[in-house]
Amino acid sequence: MRVLITGGAGFIGANFVRQTVRERPGVAVTVLDALTYAGDRASLAGLEGVELVVGSVADAELVDRLVAGSDLVVHFAAESHNDNSLNDPSPFVQTNLVGTYTLLEAVRRHGVRFHHISTDEVYGDLELDDPAKFTDRTPYNPSSPYSSTKAGSDLLVRAWVRSFGVEATISNCSNNYGPYQHVEKFIPRQITNLIDGVRPRLYGAGLNVRDWIHVEDHNAAVWAIIDSGRIGETYLIGADGEKNNLEVVQTLLEVFGRDAGDFDHVADRPGHDLRYAIDASKLREELGWEPRFTDFRSGLETTVDWYRDNEAWWRPRKAAVETKYAATGQ
Ligand code: NAD
Ligand code: TYD
Repeated sequence: MRVLITGGAGFIGANFVRQTVRERPGVAVTVLDALTYAGDRASLAGLEGVELVVGSVADAELVDRLVAGSDLVVHFAAESHNDNSLNDPSPFVQTNLVGTYTLLEAVRRHGVRFHHISTDEVYGDLELDDPAKFTDRTPYNPSSPYSSTKAGSDLLVRAWVRSFGVEATISNCSNNYGPYQHVEKFIPRQITNLIDGVRPRLYGAGLNVRDWIHVEDHNAAVWAIIDSGRIGETYLIGADGEKNNLEVVQTLLEVFGRDAGDFDHVADRPGHDLRYAIDASKLREELGWEPRFTDFRSGLETTVDWYRDNEAWWRPRKAAVETKYAATGQ
């Protein structure tokens, strides 16, 4: 089986490539990645037999050639950070919408199976005390340029399934953590701050809730959907990992042996979604998927160890990220 993995030099994509090489020796992997600020060939270091093509998912000619030689496309490539989308939405429109459209046209022409990676943020946010969680029937209600362009890309996939018979599935996952995540994101930013002896930064009161899942569990679910998911279906991926941001920071402070109050509140994100929560019963019941990383604290500890052991991977980006956050008071 020849698999084209877009965005395979990013956080979740690189972990997916590693899991695939480790667990599926019969699969030949080609990565298509533009190596934006978020992509890094070092995230694929040490892997044998993985071909990396540097280019954009919005480059129709390149995409057509690569898709023609593939049996399956797994589409991770995206602009993925909400804060960046508030500063400059244009690459989000180009990559998330035009890029997904370009891939869909190519898989349609060549009859190639497609799996689209998306986010729970397409559903908007929940109240803290809302008993209902997101399901695949929740109406789309995105808040930011990031989540709205992801929502648009999901709708393109649905239309290409219905109108053109493209064989596609969609997954919408909650917040991931684990190795190779860019230091602009919440958990790696605080871990690398703490390694540097800097106090963690909490947006607003820190009461916003995210439903954390380890990246290995997300990627195992993606393979379960590719193997046994029904064409045209959307599967939500989550591991019942709701925590507010204050709890996450306090767990990290504990892991680093620091005082519980050793953090700073900083300017809140405009339009900040309050809470995400996933009901993954369809995935669990239909495909038998179960998360393996059910202890958040121990998952965080191994992630902290990874950042301690891999300073050469994250250090080159740290100062520029902090300069950008300083400019917005964060
Ligand atoms: P990331 O920002 O770490 O990686 C994105 C990758 O895509 C990078 O390697 C980047 O170089 C590449 N890329 C960007 N524009 C491109 C283009 N035009 N052509 C080719 N490659 C391009 O993102 P991530 O956190 O790994 O997210 C991967 C996917 O998972 C995204 O689709 C995101 O919406 C989705 N997702 C992420 C999370 C999360 O918590 N990080 C949760 C749910 C869903
Ligand atoms: P983030 O990792 O950007 O993911 P998302 O916006 O997709 O949920 O942020 C996770 C949560 O952490 C979100 O509520 C914003 C908050 N946050 C902070 O409190 N401090 C920070 O330094 C960052 C980057 C995020």
